[in-house]
Amino acid sequence: MINFTYHNPVKIVFGKGMIAKLAHLVPAGSKVMLAYGGGSIKKNGVYEQVCAALQGFEVVEFGGIEANPRYATCMEAAAKIKAAGVNFILAVGGGSVLDGAKFIAVAARFEDGDPWQVMEGKVPVTAALPLGCVLTLPATGSEMNCVSVVSRDDTGEKLAFSSGHVFPLFSILDPETTFSLPLRQVKNGIVDPFVHVMEQYVCRADNTPLQARQAEAILLTLLEEGPKVLADPENYAVRANLMWCATAALNNLLGCGVEAQDWSTHMIGHELTILYGLDHAQTLAVIMPLLYQHQIQRKQGRLAQCAERIWGVTTGTQREKAEQAIQKMKEFFEAVGVSTSLTSYGVNVEEAATKAAANLAKRGAKLGEYGDIGAEEVAAIIRSAQ
Ligand code: NZQ
Ligand code: ZN
Repeated sequence: MINFTYHNPVKIVFGKGMIAKLAHLVPAGSKVMLAYGGGSIKKNGVYEQVCAALQGFEVVEFGGIEANPRYATCMEAAAKIKAAGVNFILAVGGGSVLDGAKFIAVAARFEDGDPWQVMEGKVPVTAALPLGCVLTLPATGSEMNCVSVVSRDDTGEKLAFSSGHVFPLFSILDPETTFSLPLRQVKNGIVDPFVHVMEQYVCRADNTPLQARQAEAILLTLLEEGPKVLADPENYAVRANLMWCATAALNNLLGCGVEAQDWSTHMIGHELTILYGLDHAQTLAVIMPLLYQHQIQRKQGRLAQCAERIWGVTTGTQREKAEQAIQKMKEFFEAVGVSTSLTSYGVNVEEAATKAAANLAKRGAKLGEYGDIGAEEVAAIIRSAQ
């Protein structure tokens, strides 16, 4: 196990009716920006609950943060914050609203030119407005981590930054808010956490058996609960289990002490979203099986373990078990309704391979736990898509 420091300051407030707790969670006397997305919160009763809880606070609204939040929109919000003297951001929505709010929190305090430099990794974050969250879509884990992913139209980039300054002060997770999710987002919310766990688990990880079993616990729970939510969408217990799985999948606990994680599926997936507008989870369902097939020689040990412990495969060589793990993962994604075929999303495979590889090459990206998946390998991985 390698050395690590783990600190996660996010207060999680979980369960039905918990939105009312906002009144005590938002720091007293705050001037609050209520940041939200395209309007789902105004149709499912969440907006009313939030407004009721925020009585007594001065509130400035900012709606319209897009799925895959846009830099230009975030900059508009930051300008509004500065003009109105807002000192707390409450993000109400899915991962996109929260990621947008994290970038807005940095941009509103950024003194030194264009805050996009933070996304490019050129300057560190030194300050951010405090923020809190009411989560309505369990998938990304953003509610309990300090990562934000923002897209920029004029440069064709979808980039991420990470900073301890943007941990939410609190996140309210009320599973009842997820009843109104469109089916497509429910499905995405099964695949995204599954992939988050795999990226911390199927990688160079010497002698970290606890972390492996923590990962396997989440994978097995997703396998059980995923199909249940599709069969019985009104089941609160299932919604609650999935919500907690999504948070646990990316609050950085699983990766503690693990030698090197492999986030290349996410990095390649982000390119497909910016190029073709695929949902985040759709890109992951396509890329992860292809990437594992490409990297099978190096990953077969962990994949075979996954086959045994997750999928119950007991026969075959290590290589055959690894192949089974990839096949069964693909079947699971398909079974919960997220296609693993790139062409099924109307994307031309050859074009996607060329463009995504070129974008990553421009940034000199070297992906994977060995840092050696470059443009050529990315092109080959995407070219193997159907
Ligand atoms: O905008 P509104 O109207 O709210 O509608 C949203 C949006 O259209 C809708 N929705 C959310 N909650 C709802 C609801 N509709 C009905 N009822 C509800 N309760 O769902 C649509 C998608 O929302 P979005 O926030 O975009 O989805 P998700 O949570 O999957 O977030 C995806 C973004 O997170 C990034 C992705 O790259 C992508 O940009 N990620 C962030 C990570 C992080 N911060 O750690 C890690 C992830 O791997 C990921 O990269
Ligand atoms: Zn993800």
